[in-house]
Amino acid sequence: MCSIIGYKGQLDVAPLLVNSLERMEYRGYDSVGIATINDGKIILKKGVGKVADVNKRLDLGSLPGDTGVGHTRWATHGSVTNTNAHPHYGCTDSIAIVHNGIIENHKELREELIGIGHIFKSDTDSEVIAHLLEKYYVDQKNIKKAVIDTCKRLEGAYAFVAVFEDGTICGSRYNEPLIIGSVDTGHFISSDILGFLEYTNKAIYLENRDTVILDSKTLQIFDMEGNPVNRPITQVAWELASVDKGKYAHHTLKEIHEQPVIVEKAGTQNLDRVKEFCNIVRNSRTVFLTGSGTSYHCALIAKHLLSNFAKIHAETMVSSEFQYTLDGIDNTSVLLAISQSGETADVLQAVKAAKHMGARILSIVNIPTSSLARISDWFLLIECGPEVGVAATKSFTAQLSLIYTIVDRLCNGCLSFEADKAFLGGALREILDTEIEIHRIAERLRDATDIYIIGRSIHYPIALEGALKLKELAYIHAEGMTAGELKHGPLALIGSNSYVIIINPNDTTSNDNIATAHEIKARGATIIGISDRPNDVYDIFIKIPSVKSIFYPIIEVLPFQILAYYLALAKNADPDYPRNLAKSVTVK
Ligand code: M6R
Repeated sequence: MCSIIGYKGQLDVAPLLVNSLERMEYRGYDSVGIATINDGKIILKKGVGKVADVNKRLDLGSLPGDTGVGHTRWATHGSVTNTNAHPHYGCTDSIAIVHNGIIENHKELREELIGIGHIFKSDTDSEVIAHLLEKYYVDQKNIKKAVIDTCKRLEGAYAFVAVFEDGTICGSRYNEPLIIGSVDTGHFISSDILGFLEYTNKAIYLENRDTVILDSKTLQIFDMEGNPVNRPITQVAWELASVDKGKYAHHTLKEIHEQPVIVEKAGTQNLDRVKEFCNIVRNSRTVFLTGSGTSYHCALIAKHLLSNFAKIHAETMVSSEFQYTLDGIDNTSVLLAISQSGETADVLQAVKAAKHMGARILSIVNIPTSSLARISDWFLLIECGPEVGVAATKSFTAQLSLIYTIVDRLCNGCLSFEADKAFLGGALREILDTEIEIHRIAERLRDATDIYIIGRSIHYPIALEGALKLKELAYIHAEGMTAGELKHGPLALIGSNSYVIIINPNDTTSNDNIATAHEIKARGATIIGISDRPNDVYDIFIKIPSVKSIFYPIIEVLPFQILAYYLALAKNADPDYPRNLAKSVTVK
């Protein structure tokens, strides 16, 4: 949820750190700071705001030196203030640290350290790391031992990097990523390969509890006993670095527009990998599907397709609840985890729980080197390129397209997705051509406080996804629900200030939806229909093309994405970086 970057080498470090932090800003953007070493002294600048703004204000990039660390924060402990921004010193300015994760025993550690005279400045859990390092370093004058002893005291999840005034950089991780990038001029230590991919595609993924030390000459990695360990160098695909906005005002808009091509190209990855994936699914008794947020909505659609078309027994559980419902999972089960980032803590927790019960792990991810891909027995890639906007858009259609490819294979081509991909790409383009009209509708809805979104059957997960887009991008209270449930309670909320969006393509759910729409209209609400057919009951109509009924989810999500994007603009919100959120939620 925060991003960490460190560099030691021959180049001016500050501009490198600023650039890397901008690339990883999706991980957290409450505040930013960097610390560098100059003439044997650590100098530090930090402040509240996004990297570009703080850099403009404080000129972070001008800090001198060739060694330093940087951080963008997504607040967990302590509010968003300059003091709580990282890096953090210990009592003196001889050590500075940056941290990602949550130190669960920070209160006990803080009390213990205060008891021996340490003075804390921030409200963060992270600051205990700086004080522990300082304490052990003062006691032992040995950086390696100080780091290992510090790690032994920490409970929870962490990745941290510390800079010492002698110019040494060290770091360690447990259940949060930390990756080394090696360049001719030195080394990076980063939360994400995007932190250094512009400079090198050679990455070393640290294992849990590894400690890395970079001094003036060497890079060494140790285990918790202090023994040197070797970690392999992974060549990362360069394409992951392409994160510019092109001609678009925002990453989110660019990513929305990439979807037709993503659907058209879906499933072009190594077919042998898909084949093996399907074999594992076929040989299981039950497939449990999990994910968080948008990826969970994809899992709901996947369950529907697996059950109804591939006739495979499937169950779905949102990742944050998975550990509480493990009954029925054993070595005949498969857990299929869906995650764009492959780093979501709730998803990784669900995977660990299922592994513990003996299940095989399949995953669908965007990042082949992610934690999820690496702990899975088998994984497939959604291949949609980096998604920078915090709201998932193109990753959702890419996940769905891959699910259709898999299910099609499992049911011996009963969906004929392959044959329909080009048509679906065209249908998405047709909707994009109506962007101006959806923009106008967004202007009409800008003052809406409550929007209900209803759909039935396979459209219900899209109602949930549409509501999630409106919540996170436009800060509007939006609820997705099955159309049939409305009359069992929520109808009491409907009145003349309510807006109800009905997902109603011309399929077997349509007649019932129209009846529901009339019930709502009778209570004075404004009805917005998303359909391939107009109907008098709609006050506002968003037209989508007709496609084969089972493929509607792929196209009907697009109007919601466009609507939420323009509502964000109408409300002066930043669509790429919604408040309080981060792209990868690596904390539980
Ligand atoms: O990287 P993941 O797919 O695991 O992320 C899961 C959710 O955090 C993510 O979908 C989140 O809900 C998005 N902000 C939705 O737009």
